[in-house]
Amino acid sequence: MSGHGDPVPMTARKGGALKGVADVPGDKSISHRSLILGALSVGETRIAGLLEGQDVLDTARAMQAFGAEVIHEGEGAWRVHGVGVGGFGEPEDVIDCGNSGTGVRLIMGAMATTPITATFTGDASLRKRPMARVTDPLALFGTQAVGRAGGRLPMTLVGAADPLPVRYTLPVPSAQVKSAVLLAGLNAPGETVVIEAEATRDHTERMLAGFGAEVSTEVTEEGRVITLRGRPELRPQDIVVPRDPSSAAFPVCAALITEGSDVLVPNIGLNPTRAGLFTTLREMGAVLTYENEREEGGEPVADLRARFSPDMKGIDVPPERAASMIDEYPILSVVAACAEGRTVMRGVKELRVKESDRIAAMADGLRACGVTVEDGPDWWIVEGRGPGGVPGGATCATHLDHRIAMSFLCLGLASQKPVGVDDAGPIVTSFPIFESLMRGLGAHLDRANRT
Ligand code: S3P
Repeated sequence: MSGHGDPVPMTARKGGALKGVADVPGDKSISHRSLILGALSVGETRIAGLLEGQDVLDTARAMQAFGAEVIHEGEGAWRVHGVGVGGFGEPEDVIDCGNSGTGVRLIMGAMATTPITATFTGDASLRKRPMARVTDPLALFGTQAVGRAGGRLPMTLVGAADPLPVRYTLPVPSAQVKSAVLLAGLNAPGETVVIEAEATRDHTERMLAGFGAEVSTEVTEEGRVITLRGRPELRPQDIVVPRDPSSAAFPVCAALITEGSDVLVPNIGLNPTRAGLFTTLREMGAVLTYENEREEGGEPVADLRARFSPDMKGIDVPPERAASMIDEYPILSVVAACAEGRTVMRGVKELRVKESDRIAAMADGLRACGVTVEDGPDWWIVEGRGPGGVPGGATCATHLDHRIAMSFLCLGLASQKPVGVDDAGPIVTSFPIFESLMRGLGAHLDRANRT
């Protein structure tokens, strides 16, 4: 599969229970950060369990372009020889971040306070996404950016030669923006402070501390105040990347909606800034248990066991939970369609600026499959049709968005008629083994349009 090549049509159809063990790949957010922080350290960082999805491979290539040595040793095993904070060299060519908003925004932050110039681009999806949310705070350090209208890629950044430290309150709940500011703050003197009203994923803060930076988080009336002391010498690390809860979401949810299913998804990180979907599913009545709960590398981890759950009911998802499950609303809407009653999702404006407009993409496809969906600028409501009640029988557009593709393929496993997607190619960006893993559980997936 290729995110950039010819479209890969795929169809999913009902074919019995899903059973077995689903070993999902490494966490995408932590994989990007492992490569970038490894490149900003002095010495050799070793990484095990790196997600070898296209997004992360694009970040690995970018780190090489900025002067780090990045060596692929074997499955998931990588070594990075970093150049140190402020040590990035100027890339000889344009940096292509493919489909990855995380990749491009974090890398922009990482180079923003080094006096070099770099031009960034990406695929048709990434070139539509807003970059001003990152270049605005980077300008406070003294970084210049010139891009297309509306702050779109391709875009050239000129790193600040004499950066100033920054105090910045996030106008949108975004871990990517928070991380870009913190990474830029690494090469600024003094203290850089980021304030977030809503807690977003905190991998950058945790990992910066692990690499030896002085970083602290204080919870105040303004929200979480994160303070980083600039110009540390980052010490290389041995990193074991935990498995991705956002990828686990697909086999878990497919099992919940497919009759007779019983699937174990081992070793999933349950960091509270990421685990909102699982809390929501349990509130809906999902038979989803956490087994073998433990701590690994300072993070809560468990084996998730998901069984067919015919008694799930729609709920109002609390808006303050949105950031902790922002990537999981597409697959939640599929579960909601198979539950009884309505599921209300509010405070989710950010879904409109992801790899696609995820509210529009899911609403269109669900409606084509016979599900009633209402939507507004920052909310949507899915009317459940009950277990086995979704008619299906449509081909859904994925708009270069991996999570839209995987969500509709999961729906097809539980709907009356097959559900197809026009292009499953983008799945390779985050979950390259999705097709084989789901087939291994018993899913009927065809590489053709058969709706
Ligand atoms: C990510 C942050 C989230 C998320 C993305 C990964 C990260 O984006 O949607 O898939 O690794 O920091 P925002 O920070 O823009 O919400």
